[in-house]
Amino acid sequence: MPDPTLARDLLTAESLTSGYNGVAAVTDVNLTVAAGEVLSVLGPNGAGKTTTLLALAGLLPAMSGRTTAMGEPVDYKRPYRMARRGMRFVPDDRGLFSVMTVREHLRLSRRRPDRAREEFVLDRFPALAEVQSRIVGLLSGGEQQMLAIAVALLAEPRVLMVDEMSLGLAPMVVEQMLPTIRDLARDEGIAVVLVEQHVELALAVSDRAIVLNHGRMVLEGDAKDLLADRDRLETAYFGGESL
Ligand SMILES: Nc1ncnc2c1ncn2[C@@H]1O[C@H](COP(=O)(O)OP(=O)(O)OP(=O)(O)O)[C@@H](O)[C@H]1O
Ligand SMILES: [Mg+2]
Repeated sequence: MPDPTLARDLLTAESLTSGYNGVAAVTDVNLTVAAGEVLSVLGPNGAGKTTTLLALAGLLPAMSGRTTAMGEPVDYKRPYRMARRGMRFVPDDRGLFSVMTVREHLRLSRRRPDRAREEFVLDRFPALAEVQSRIVGLLSGGEQQMLAIAVALLAEPRVLMVDEMSLGLAPMVVEQMLPTIRDLARDEGIAVVLVEQHVELALAVSDRAIVLNHGRMVLEGDAKDLLADRDRLETAYFGGESL
């Protein structure tokens, strides 16, 4: 019998320590993300947010701790297997090809020809539907980010991790995109992890959040509670004690 707890928690980390060349960049990170839930990973530059995501995606080995995705251990040796299981990671540089058009990205990214899925995704990002014949290099930052997320969504992911979605975007664009991701998580039961510098906007669409600082978790809690306690959040951000 599959463990129902594991089935609900699509992503877990228990005492995750990971880093580069044998030096830990994050230490003892604990998190869980259930189907339909949005978790924000917050913290200042260099806190270890990207490292945490890379380790959860199987793109960087854990030095110690336990990580699971879709109920099975994260496979660092074969990250493509993680993708096959339904893991999608949108990197902070968006990972698009600047001389390819929007349509070409969408066509190449479909797991199988699925016109209905493409229409479903484009319905969520109407601005993208209007620029399908344009090459990525001529898109606005917001359109590029929509495309990166649309490409990930075509695969019907079970876990979606988006690193610095709002990098270089106008706050108005961020305000439009975050609720779209929130709705997609709920409607499709996707476990979403967001790394965001727009802390309040991120918390407004998240269920829970963790704050990292100097590679350690310094705060975690329900997004509502964190939004209501600005002082605690600011202390955590600007050098709080680890949990
Ligand atoms: N490829 C790498 N090799 C060595 N050290 C790295 C590498 N990438 C990141 N680091 C270090 O690991 C630590 C955590 O970096 P990480 O990129 O995870 O932080 P971050 O919270 O994502 O920061 P930012 O907000 O700037 O994106 C930093 O000290 C960083 O210098
Ligand atoms: Mg980063």
